[in-house]
Amino acid sequence: MLNEEQLSKYSRDGFLVIESFASHDECEELMARAGDLVSGFDPAEAVSIFTTREQSRRTDQYFIESGDKIRFFFEEDAFASDGKMTRPLEYSINKIGHALHDLDPVFDRFSRKPELAEIAADLGFARPLLLQSMYIFKQPEIGGEVTCHQDATFLFTDPMSVTGFWFALEDATLQNGCLWAIPGGHRLGLKSRFVRTEGLQTKFEKLEDTPWPDSQLAPLEVRQGTLIILNGLLPHLSHANLSSKSRQAYTLHIIDGACHYPAENWLQRAADMPPLGFSRNDPLNTKNDSENTTQNMHASHMAKWR
Ligand code: FE2
Repeated sequence: MLNEEQLSKYSRDGFLVIESFASHDECEELMARAGDLVSGFDPAEAVSIFTTREQSRRTDQYFIESGDKIRFFFEEDAFASDGKMTRPLEYSINKIGHALHDLDPVFDRFSRKPELAEIAADLGFARPLLLQSMYIFKQPEIGGEVTCHQDATFLFTDPMSVTGFWFALEDATLQNGCLWAIPGGHRLGLKSRFVRTEGLQTKFEKLEDTPWPDSQLAPLEVRQGTLIILNGLLPHLSHANLSSKSRQAYTLHIIDGACHYPAENWLQRAADMPPLGFSRNDPLNTKNDSENTTQNMHASHMAKWR
């Protein structure tokens, strides 16, 4: 799937743009499906989670338990001080996460396209595991910024293996908040980790203090259907969407099952729901098989880290 030139570009820049990876129809199908999921979400549940007196604790819990679920997260400006939504539900949601690829049949099918398995193999993955998926709405005028970060901060493995697949479901432009990245910035080292703490809380652990060389950030304006592959150490961001057009995207993050996945990473999955590979029929995914089952690998990674 990836030729030599693409592989060398990826290793030089830390990202690779593949145009026309997904068809117009595939993008439309994912967008329609995300819309259906939002329609099925009870806003009363949102209000109870995000606007009660216990808001901070409940919001933290809702987030930290979302690794193996389909949950909805709101834009910062979605609620007024009286708890009422400032705009219709479908324009208030920032993203859906973090196990769409396992729990929703439409996202499952797209995430397990054979071309993605080929790309993972080309990138050198020994045992790719689909760890996290997010549907990002970036709605007009409310879609918030995502500050400069590395995905390995959130999905740390030892050694580093996390790789992001970022799919533009609509054209991503300077106006509606396209990605920006620092070409070659994946060689700058990991700056922080986002970890669990006592009582279902999270915090950033600083590893390195140097500021990002912001002047080197380059915009990645892409057309609908483009796939951007992101090295987990690549610094990237997106600005707020102040335009009148949404910038919907789907992201999938894979890690290598041969690497250690620490128990203090914010994202954890239930023991009976370990991350799986591109093929659900992979014998490595079956339980009660051998020492090498995904589940046992998962458990042993946890144990080793402790
Ligand atoms: Fe990211």
